Amino acid sequence: MADFLTTHRKIERNITLLAVLAFIAVAIGGIVEIAPLFWIDSTVEKVEGMRPYTPLEQAGRNIYVREGCYACHSQMIRPFRDEVERYGHYSLAAESMYDHPFQWGSKRTGPDLARVGNRYSDEWHVQHLTDPRSVVPESIMPPYAFLANREINDLDMGAHLLALSRVGVPYSKDDITKANADLALQGDAEADPSDFQKRYPKAQVRDFDGDPTRLTEMDALVAYLQMLGTLVDTESAAALEQQSEAKK
Ligand code: HEC
Repeated sequence: MADFLTTHRKIERNITLLAVLAFIAVAIGGIVEIAPLFWIDSTVEKVEGMRPYTPLEQAGRNIYVREGCYACHSQMIRPFRDEVERYGHYSLAAESMYDHPFQWGSKRTGPDLARVGNRYSDEWHVQHLTDPRSVVPESIMPPYAFLANREINDLDMGAHLLALSRVGVPYSKDDITKANADLALQGDAEADPSDFQKRYPKAQVRDFDGDPTRLTEMDALVAYLQMLGTLVDTESAAALEQQSEAKK
């Protein structure tokens, strides 16, 4: 006991020794926590249905980021009863695995948008984005009417997809070379979408902004909004989860 106390006294009176030993103690804790992350393939459980965004959806997502929609809208439904009843199944980690950067947000001036896809018609979205108060009189959302006048035919989506593939989004070579064609195709109700939809299952192909003669930022943003939360079949994801809970 006395030995222990003298040793400890040495440590406490030598600031350098104390610092070195404290560093070692903290480092051990750090290594135990951090090291395993380098050996597991993924911290996100794969969920069926999740796929990379189409070029048009990705273009819409870029507009969402550019306009700062995340400053008023979250995309993260928390597993609380009130949220699940209002917005739908809580968000799964896999549902934002292709988001660079993620759009979880931290403020809800407006509602959560994680599952807004297919909840309203395209016409509603266009009307709402053009003049929010024409459909929701008490709305404080700013209007984005200019989006309908900005054409996006000259976007180089191949470069966007290539950049995303470098950070791990699994776009194929085919997806990248066809990116600009895919961009135009998804906004064209007359196009043959079979090859496109094989590569992007559940992709919605149509004229989104009500103006079939032009491909605009409005097309892209509405295509993005209409996709949100529709890729993963949360009914079956919930069933899978219950199964794995039961096994435990
Ligand atoms: C100043 C805050 C603010 C900003 C910025 C904002 N919104 Fe909103 N948004 C709101 C509010 C408040 C509502 C609820 C009233 C309404 O429906 O207009 C709303 C509602 C919505 C809805 C309907 C959601 C639902 O479930 O009813 C959508 C879709 C939407 N916003 C999209 C966007 C997009 C896309 C952007 C960016 C281009 C954006 N918002 C920017 C505040 C904002």
